[in-house]
Amino acid sequence: MPSDTPLIEVRNLNLFFGAFHALKDVSLSLHAGELVGLVGDNGAGKTTLIRVLSGLHKPSSGEVYFDGRRVERFHPKLAIEFGMETIQQSVGLCDNLSIARNFYLGREPVKRRFGIPLLDFAKMREASTQVIRSFGLRANVSADDEVEVLSGGERQSIKIGRAVAFRNRVVIMDEPTNHLSVREREHVNDLAKQLRDQGLLVIYITHDIFQVHKLADRVIIMENGTKITDVRKHEMTAEALEQVIRDGGRVVEAEKARAIA
Ligand SMILES: Nc1ncnc2c1ncn2[C@@H]1O[C@H](COP(=O)(O)OP(=O)(O)OP(=O)(O)O)[C@@H](O)[C@H]1O
Ligand SMILES: [Mg+2]
Repeated sequence: MPSDTPLIEVRNLNLFFGAFHALKDVSLSLHAGELVGLVGDNGAGKTTLIRVLSGLHKPSSGEVYFDGRRVERFHPKLAIEFGMETIQQSVGLCDNLSIARNFYLGREPVKRRFGIPLLDFAKMREASTQVIRSFGLRANVSADDEVEVLSGGERQSIKIGRAVAFRNRVVIMDEPTNHLSVREREHVNDLAKQLRDQGLLVIYITHDIFQVHKLADRVIIMENGTKITDVRKHEMTAEALEQVIRDGGRVVEAEKARAIA
């Protein structure tokens, strides 16, 4: 069950890029143990919102709270400090390094031999092998193999496993199933649900309203920098949500009233 204090709370957030108003008075509360779908057309502001939460953009006005505490300073390390990992389709892994090395990219464990710091390969291999097995990678894949040998879905598994192993609390998946086969897509979506079931907050960004309606507990729709819909899944059908994206926010209130009646 989602907890009471929101893990992330955004209040009246505005962001301008020069004269362009990219985020318009956005407010939302997101809880641990929730799988939230963030949907909207190209240019709606989804990635920009995530970039603010990750500390990459400073809001023009409005507030962000992590765990009830106000974020005072937006800086690129904010996401790591708070335990937030963003998973994207095309970036995040180095093809020519082993799975084990990729697993620890940027946080390699070090051991000392005669005072000299050395990468702790045994530790990297052990932890990443565990993830490989628990996430159902092919049995003949080993942690020493280069990432090149992995399929798209398996690559996503490595990134998701990494997010879990480093005790993140928030995992943001930005179009994580682009270019994946149907089976791989299901696998990645299952992992998203597993993360939610382990108590993480999962923010799942996609254009596919039908996919996200099946998967998410809640759906947030953005349009032109504004949040136009924020509903629990059972409050609206996927068809109605699709209609919202087509017509803008106008039908939302009517639909909600009908669902409750
Ligand atoms: N650094 C920037 N400088 C100026 N404008 C920007 C910048 N980043 C994004 N924008 C603009 O802000 C708007 C929102 O972009 P954003 O990338 O957040 O959309 P999105 O919802 O993620 O779209 P998509 O589904 O295509 O990924 C777009 O009009 C985009 O051109
Ligand atoms: Mg985007």
